[in-house]
Amino acid sequence: MTMDTILRDATLPDGRSGVDIGISGGRIAAIEPRLAATAAEEIGCNGMLVAPPFVDAHFHMDATLSLGLPRLNRSGTLLEGIALWSELKPQLTQDAIVERALAYCDWAVAQGLLAIRSHVDICDPRLLAVDALLEVKRRVKPYLDLQLVAFPQDGVFRFPGAMDLLTEALRRGVDVVGGIPHFERTMEDGARSVRALCELAADRGLRVDMHCDETDDPLSRHVETLACETQRLGLQGRVTGSHLTSMHSMDNYYVSKLIPLMAEARLGVVANPLINITIQGRHDTYPKRRGMTRVPELMAAGLTIAFGHDCVMDPWYSLGSADMLEVAGMAVHVAQMTGLDAMRRCFDAVTSQPAELLGLDGYGVAPGCHADLVLLEAQDPIEAIRTRAARLVVMRRGKIVARSPARRAQLALPGRPREIDFLLRRP
Ligand code: FE2
Repeated sequence: MTMDTILRDATLPDGRSGVDIGISGGRIAAIEPRLAATAAEEIGCNGMLVAPPFVDAHFHMDATLSLGLPRLNRSGTLLEGIALWSELKPQLTQDAIVERALAYCDWAVAQGLLAIRSHVDICDPRLLAVDALLEVKRRVKPYLDLQLVAFPQDGVFRFPGAMDLLTEALRRGVDVVGGIPHFERTMEDGARSVRALCELAADRGLRVDMHCDETDDPLSRHVETLACETQRLGLQGRVTGSHLTSMHSMDNYYVSKLIPLMAEARLGVVANPLINITIQGRHDTYPKRRGMTRVPELMAAGLTIAFGHDCVMDPWYSLGSADMLEVAGMAVHVAQMTGLDAMRRCFDAVTSQPAELLGLDGYGVAPGCHADLVLLEAQDPIEAIRTRAARLVVMRRGKIVARSPARRAQLALPGRPREIDFLLRRP
């Protein structure tokens, strides 16, 4: 048997070790120990983890890498970030958005992040960012799946003409219907926006992903309407609530009713740990709320939970490097998910779970799946989170698209090793 490429001696996220992965025609052809085949290229994995690529379920690619334009966010709050973005919008050019987004996609590929759902702001009569990101989507298609959400940043009812702009963005090729009910003028307007946007998605057979209840206000309960509309319109499994930070502050009794409703509607949930921990709780003295939604409880109820990066070097967040292991690591800490199974589920929340929310086809490490793979310098998913493992090899459709060196430190200590790699090898 002849393959194009074989990865030898890999460990898989499900714990299988010592397996070979044969790749043919851009797809995984076989996974078995000591695969009896030859290939033009063989990659020795030395027992390291081969995972499917990272997937970011929530990002803002129209704003990324714009840090400092036109000024910095002094308060660090969500509202100053939104105001700052409004100041920047009139100065944006399509070329500048495209250039920054492509640069971010370079970072993403190097980090093994090969699928991103990005919200794109449609509250701009020129729809500049929409056209820019549609162009980026076309250009990165050979190496990265970019899914776009029509996002009314300033409110679909609050911003004049936003519903028409959103509809036009969908017509131009944006994939998913977005929303921001907690930013509409009243609770009633917020609920009305959820209904109208879910109806729009149902009419067009599209998915929904709304910024929902991104606030510390425990009475911000638009997720309830989102779950209800999902059921009413038969959209189960196709609707995602992003952020849901108000759930952090809600009354426990109310949540005990809410989570089963969300499970019935098969709502997807995206938490954005880096952003939630820095943006929420800003009006608190002490104790300061963490603000992230109730991840372990939602996982226990069987919902699909993904983590998003949300922002990298933009009006809301000055840090980040497209590293979904950093995102997962923050979630482990913020949600106190330090149990072994919980940490593995945090790895799933930046790989298989967001792949399900995006509806990616042929995703996974199994025969028949696309040969989209990342060789990580780690022996298992927990070690990958702990060390922010180097992405030794990143592969898309069987071709290597990025490589990074292994992480090594040279020591000059008497009686100690000359080199270490930060991995813990068990006998
Ligand atoms: Fe967001």
